Amino acid sequence: MPTLIAPSILAADFANLQKEVEMLNSSEADFIHVDIMDGVFVPNISFGIPVTEAIYKHARKPLDVHLMIVNPDNYLESIRNAGAEIISVHYEACPHLHRTVQGIHALGAKAGVAINPHTSIVLLEEIIGDIDLVCLMSVNPGFGGQKFIQNTYEKVSRLKELILKKGSSAKIEIDGGVNLENAPKLIEAGADILVAGSFVFSSKDPQQTISELKSL
Ligand code: DX5
Ligand code: ZN
Repeated sequence: MPTLIAPSILAADFANLQKEVEMLNSSEADFIHVDIMDGVFVPNISFGIPVTEAIYKHARKPLDVHLMIVNPDNYLESIRNAGAEIISVHYEACPHLHRTVQGIHALGAKAGVAINPHTSIVLLEEIIGDIDLVCLMSVNPGFGGQKFIQNTYEKVSRLKELILKKGSSAKIEIDGGVNLENAPKLIEAGADILVAGSFVFSSKDPQQTISELKSL
């Protein structure tokens, strides 16, 4: 299966959001990755539901929403109504993760679980059969433009093994510091979806950069 590309709108020019979404619409991107941060789970605040709705209004690609927030259960319905096709919650923010995953599915969305760099793959053993996606953080969540953590390659391989062992259909998404240098190794290790924020939006030709990532 070809690698799927999910540019992160966090790195876009927020003053020209419609234009940026239209640029992604006419690119080879597969999803639009939407990073919601609450200033509690992560030390930064990005944007929330009204901005997600505004993106959705113009988007012709499915929204892959990454919730970096505490108590995500309180917002699942609004996030879904704002246009999310995939909703990922953080393992570290969900004491009743199974219930949260069921809640996402009940809304008709795909359910993802994101894990921080220090969180072990082993902890996904009992949930991997119930989810559609694992978002492996390859930076500490909270900011775009950070340096890729090298240990991620090993985690991708271990996660791939777990998925095969459990007969899960979960996709592996890598989020943080992805570029043309680390992407081939991530794909080789088993990555299915690559999120790329600053690498895409700060490049001279974002559509061309998306094509290059896609053609790996
Ligand atoms: C980090 C976010 C990422 C980020 C990726 O907290 O979850 O999705 O926007 O941006 P880059 O590709 O710049 O690391
Ligand atoms: Zn993200």
